[in-house]
Amino acid sequence: MVDTFDDFVEQLQSQIDEDTRQTYGEKVFQRWKNPRYLQVIADPHGYAKETGSCGDSIEMYLKFENGRVSDIGFQTDGCGTSLVCGSYAAQMAMGKTPAELTEIGGEDILTELGGLPPEDEHCAFLAVAALQSALEDYVSRRNKD
Ligand code: FES
Repeated sequence: MVDTFDDFVEQLQSQIDEDTRQTYGEKVFQRWKNPRYLQVIADPHGYAKETGSCGDSIEMYLKFENGRVSDIGFQTDGCGTSLVCGSYAAQMAMGKTPAELTEIGGEDILTELGGLPPEDEHCAFLAVAALQSALEDYVSRRNKD
């Protein structure tokens, strides 16, 4: 029995949370609730925005210090999975050199997450595409200096 509108909303949220847990697993659920590195970074050394065939976009911001990623942020206007994949792409990139960054692929994110439903796998590749494009931006800016 639902007493108030607030109770109704709370029950609905609980149901959504439970469904998400069941479909995506605990690791994805926890990151969806707490997306690390979801931030805009001022004056990034590398930046890119990539839009997938689904129409969603992920932006990636990179800062380097002593040849390694010292700060990173991402934004997305996309699905919950793009939020999780952007967050893990950023986490995997922290502290890496440009050469090490090129080795990060969409499969690595899928492995880290223990897999995603097939219809969501492209979200991991979109996050990595944004990361790699931000790296390209960094490299091309550096080559101009
Ligand atoms: Fe487009 Fe996930 S559905 S990025």
